[in-house]
Amino acid sequence: MFEDKHVAITGAGGGIGRAFAEMFIAEGAKVSICDLRDPTDVAREIGATGYACDVSDESAVQDLIVKSGSMNGPIDIYIANAGVGFSDHPAGHAAGAGNGAWETSWQVNVMGAVYAARALLPSWIARGSGNFVIVASAAGLLNQIGSASYSTTKHAAVGFSEAIAIAHRDDGISAHCVCPQYVRTNMTKGMKFAENNPDGLLEPSDVANALKKAIKDDIFMVLPHPVVGDYFKAKAMDYEGWIDGMVRLRRKVPFPGVNSG
Ligand SMILES: NC(=O)c1ccc[n+]([C@@H]2O[C@H](COP(=O)([O-])OP(=O)(O)OC[C@H]3O[C@@H](n4cnc5c(N)ncnc54)[C@H](O)[C@@H]3O)[C@@H](O)[C@H]2O)c1
Repeated sequence: MFEDKHVAITGAGGGIGRAFAEMFIAEGAKVSICDLRDPTDVAREIGATGYACDVSDESAVQDLIVKSGSMNGPIDIYIANAGVGFSDHPAGHAAGAGNGAWETSWQVNVMGAVYAARALLPSWIARGSGNFVIVASAAGLLNQIGSASYSTTKHAAVGFSEAIAIAHRDDGISAHCVCPQYVRTNMTKGMKFAENNPDGLLEPSDVANALKKAIKDDIFMVLPHPVVGDYFKAKAMDYEGWIDGMVRLRRKVPFPGVNSG
């Protein structure tokens, strides 16, 4: 299904993005990866093309799309995977992270996808196809205790994914929103709650396989941990009870930015 498709993936120097790249390459796609630090070595190792690109810079995202397009052909599948997370430190309350952390979270977790969609949608609408993938998080459907900036911007990423799905299905374009809970990457390294999570710490390749199936079946909401769907339903059915449960969890568990370092 992905033979000769051009797949571009941001934040793919490691972690989930690299696993996406390896999966698409195994499926016969031509893959372009980008990251803040030039990922040329990783690209060479796995058989992709690598670009340095800061997704919070609109002109850099435009350049990535033009340069990778001239190398591998027009992009068929774009994966806005680059993401950042900051704890509520230094103040520790819900607005405790500094403006820099909030701004960077907004720029990378939300605007990085907006910039790419703005550059790609006109040509995708004209040709009647394209898959736009946003890697949000379970925190975008539920919440990440100890990181209000991450939770808030990942909710926005879910909202933007929905907007693409609704606005562009009739143009032949599919949107996919990936909402994992904890996955073994640099982002969760040393986070005891993630490593010992009762719902399981997935491998990046598990997330890649979930995305492969979702694109094949044209599924919007990709939940590598299916239990996240149950939590989301429970939240919608009983918002008050869900907040009560999260307050109890916050008291019990040492989250970074709350009751641990
Ligand atoms: N690991 C998890 O438990 C988990 C859970 C849910 C969602 N996610 C999301 O998955 C995505 C991938 O994260 P990961 O877990 O592989 O962690 P990671 O830290 O390994 O990967 C994130 C990548 O994004 C890159 N990046 C950051 N800012 C960037 C920028 N301005 N421009 C370009 N690249 C930039 C980083 O350099 C890094 O390589 C993120 O969006 C993250 O929020 C992760």
